[in-house]
Amino acid sequence: MKFILKRGLLLGSATAATQIEGGDENNNWARFAREGKVDDGTSPVRACDHYNRWREDIDLMAEMGMQIYRFGIEWSRIEPVRGDFRPDVLAHYREEIEYMREKGIKPLLTLHHFNNPLWFEDMGGWTNKESAEIFLSFAERVIDRLGDIVDEYITINEPNVYCLNSLFYGIWPPEKKSLFAFVRAFSNMTEAHIKCYQLIHNKRAGMGKSREETLVSFANHLRVFAPKDIFNPWHKLCARFMEHMFQTAITDAMMTGKCVFPVIRHKGIERGRYYDFIGINYYSRSTVSGIADGVRDDCERNDLGWEIYHDGLIDLAGLLSMEYGSEFPIFVTENGTCDNTDAFRARFIYDQLKLISETDNRIERYYHWSFTDNFEWREGEAARFGVVHLDYETQKRTVKNSGRLYADIIKNGGVTDEAYEKYVAPTEYHK
Ligand code: BGC
Repeated sequence: MKFILKRGLLLGSATAATQIEGGDENNNWARFAREGKVDDGTSPVRACDHYNRWREDIDLMAEMGMQIYRFGIEWSRIEPVRGDFRPDVLAHYREEIEYMREKGIKPLLTLHHFNNPLWFEDMGGWTNKESAEIFLSFAERVIDRLGDIVDEYITINEPNVYCLNSLFYGIWPPEKKSLFAFVRAFSNMTEAHIKCYQLIHNKRAGMGKSREETLVSFANHLRVFAPKDIFNPWHKLCARFMEHMFQTAITDAMMTGKCVFPVIRHKGIERGRYYDFIGINYYSRSTVSGIADGVRDDCERNDLGWEIYHDGLIDLAGLLSMEYGSEFPIFVTENGTCDNTDAFRARFIYDQLKLISETDNRIERYYHWSFTDNFEWREGEAARFGVVHLDYETQKRTVKNSGRLYADIIKNGGVTDEAYEKYVAPTEYHK
């Protein structure tokens, strides 16, 4: 064996509703695409047609041995008009969840993943002072209908990436460029998460589920921020500043209710503990020499130019355990890479899982991003992250070399010498 998987580590994949379902015209990303703003001209209205092909997808996951699955639901489908909740759509998700459970795949449900219904978006979305309440009434309906068959939840995915891209840099819908909007949304999302955490626990207790049976948290996008020159005080200061603004303050606010700028306290936010596990979405390291993102010279990169840096996940897991308690399990709620030709993804998976398995950390779940190639937001269909190839024209799914490796790792509890020779050895990173 090249390595044996860490004891108890469960493997599966992660997706998001807007990125895979197709068919919904009524969300912020479908409109953004209609306005011709997606770089390659594609639209999430096509995506992977998962809304119709979910059974085929779950079957394939089961065939690949996946044990866990993180997925989202489309708010604009469930509540296309404010207050009008669609029972047929909730029944659809219920059927899919029941099916994955039958297949032995444990669901982790994400309630919000960058997707707003148009009516919500047009009220100011997450900058609206009622946004937390509005989101909670949606969440409540979902839990009422699905809460008895879902034990594990992510309330909100990556508030930092969402608020930064949508409200500060203005490169995602609704294309706002305002520090004020960014700060407001951070606070509203914090309030929404905290109240949603409480809501899910209360509702599930009402369904006779014990507190330990219910796991709720959020998934933040965490990076390593490294000064370009470690002896340069300006680089060091910028790295700390970027880290604080992008991830430290919002993570702390969501997890404990402690508000430090850019999160501003409002009356709905009280101090407490609002997580049952530590969720980390990890992709890369930023190398900083000013108030801007940067990539180290001469490093291995993926097809979007992001540095491939596996140690970062282990370092972040260690830091978060120290900060929020080593008694809490860590779920890698996303990790993966953009590799359009599957030239190095097998090596990426091998290196990352080896490191997780051979170092000291509390990682218990690994959700690979992603299952099939899917709609990668502003990059559209051009950026491929799947272990399963998607032909968008025919919707044919084909397991990639990396997917065969992943299935083999799950089956054998690690990487055998044969699997290494067959799937990993022929692959290489590029610069
Ligand atoms: C997001 C995913 C996205 C992935 C790759 C994460 O920031 O949660 O929706 O597809 O990164 O860019």
